[in-house]
Amino acid sequence: MIIGVDPPRTELRRAGPADAEVAAALRQSAMTDPWERPWGVASVGLLLRDPGVLATLALQDAAPVGTSFIRLAGDEAEVLALAVVPDRRRRGIGRTLIDAAARDCALAGVARLFLEVAEPNAPARALYASCGFRQVGHRPGYYRGIGVAVDALLLVRDLPADRKRQ
Ligand SMILES: CC(C)(COP(=O)(O)OP(=O)(O)OC[C@H]1O[C@@H](n2cnc3c(N)ncnc32)[C@H](O)[C@@H]1OP(=O)(O)O)[C@@H](O)C(=O)NCCC(=O)NCCS
Repeated sequence: MIIGVDPPRTELRRAGPADAEVAAALRQSAMTDPWERPWGVASVGLLLRDPGVLATLALQDAAPVGTSFIRLAGDEAEVLALAVVPDRRRRGIGRTLIDAAARDCALAGVARLFLEVAEPNAPARALYASCGFRQVGHRPGYYRGIGVAVDALLLVRDLPADRKRQ
């Protein structure tokens, strides 16, 4: 008789060029808002070969359930993509990926982590607010999907100096 089931553990691992198809499929299945443009396997492969990009896969029971792509640029960095598959949302995977990215960035000497988020993207805005991001800009018509243009909010999270020493 089953009397309980533990929630699956989320494991993170660095993504490399061999993960291009998996990461592209993950992003494609998660980023379905009309303002998002698809990323092909070839362009994901280029990002995964770029030494200035930190890409991470989140796995549950060995299955890929989320991904993040971060571009490092001196003491700043930018979240290029964050995606969690629809059937695993609201289980902390997005927060785990962002907090890991913030840790990795701090260790790399980054002081500020930036991102753009579409103004109507309420789930992502709620996640970023709960992860300590604040708005520092507003970019009208930044996202231009097929037949749609929506504004972007530019957000930043300051990475405390003490984390850089950890
Ligand atoms: C945005 C996204 C990455 C969030 O991933 P997630 O794994 O569901 O997020 P988490 O479970 O870690 O959520 C952490 C917190 O964010 C907030 N949040 C996340 N999704 C939310 C939603 N749909 N509504 C309200 N708050 C939400 C909550 O505060 C949540 O904490 P709680 O569950 O304890 O209330 C996911 O919805 C996704 O992949 N969306 C499509 C792609 C996308 O929009 N990416 C961001 C582009 S900038």
